[in-house]
Amino acid sequence: MNNNESPCPPDGRHLDALCSAAAKALTTANRYPDSDLSALRSALARYIGHGVGADMVWPGNGSNEVLLHLLQTYGGPGRTALGFGPTYSMHEQIATVTGTRWIQADRDSHFGLSPEAAAAAIERDRPDIVFLCALNNPTGTPLDPATLDTVLHAGPGLVVLDEAYIEFSAVGSRAGLLSRYPQLVISRTMSKAFGFAGIRVGFLVASADVLTPLRIVALPYHLSTLTAAVALAALDHADELLANIPVILAERGRMRDALVSSGHTVARSDANFLFFDTGADSSAVAARLAGRGVLVRDLGPGGWLRVTVGHPDENDVFLKALADVTR
Ligand SMILES: Cc1ncc(COP(=O)(O)O)c(C=O)c1O
Repeated sequence: MNNNESPCPPDGRHLDALCSAAAKALTTANRYPDSDLSALRSALARYIGHGVGADMVWPGNGSNEVLLHLLQTYGGPGRTALGFGPTYSMHEQIATVTGTRWIQADRDSHFGLSPEAAAAAIERDRPDIVFLCALNNPTGTPLDPATLDTVLHAGPGLVVLDEAYIEFSAVGSRAGLLSRYPQLVISRTMSKAFGFAGIRVGFLVASADVLTPLRIVALPYHLSTLTAAVALAALDHADELLANIPVILAERGRMRDALVSSGHTVARSDANFLFFDTGADSSAVAARLAGRGVLVRDLGPGGWLRVTVGHPDENDVFLKALADVTR
């Protein structure tokens, strides 16, 4: 319960469709993939909606890879990227490995980000790239639309909006803003709500002008025929795969209630994970949970842990183990 994966593997009718797509792709395994990934980009554009065209989609092996392509292209020595912590640690890591200087600003005590705080950080540091994460990992916090609006007007450079968990949110993607804000880049993934973490498909959504230079840094044929074929089949069966979302959200509500009634403070989360205050030394609690076979994520701030919503029986094991180790 430490990786924010879906607890639901593909099954039934859509598993058959995925297997057929993989089998068909294997019959052309002697050939390199379509380097334009045209079919996948078109299918992703249809899935994203909001008038997004295939030339506005950049797929890769997970959103970490496409974020790396973005930072290799627009970051680098002499450039800066700003994020608001606690947030997804790979943003900093990807910035750093590309030689981009990372600047961390803080969220408020409820892990929110006000327009004023975001504007002040941007004004102070004038970053080349601003990272926003909605829903934010590790907290699950949604992004105030006014904050996004402020950042889009204040930022001198690119604004990266990481929407890895957006399918879990009632608000939905902000891809509709792309036609008005050419500096906006949205990052999405099939790892979470689609339950496709092991297949590795992520994608950027942005103007063709922003995306075309990424072809210079990406290695040739970076996404395999097999991955593209299985992703296409999954998109064909999106409704069935995404039907797990309400089940996961109901479980999140049950876990949240149980944590609150045991006296824990739980951050507002619209995602498939919860961030809660153990009221104790979180690394010791995480280690004791691990000793009972339950893995959770200890990312800081001190005292807080992140737990992914699992199957009901896994969630029961977690809640019981937590009660035992924090007793
Ligand atoms: C906010 C956020 N962005 C991106 C990712 C990476 O996802 P992918 O599996 O597509 O590389 C994660 C994974 O945990 C995440 O939490």
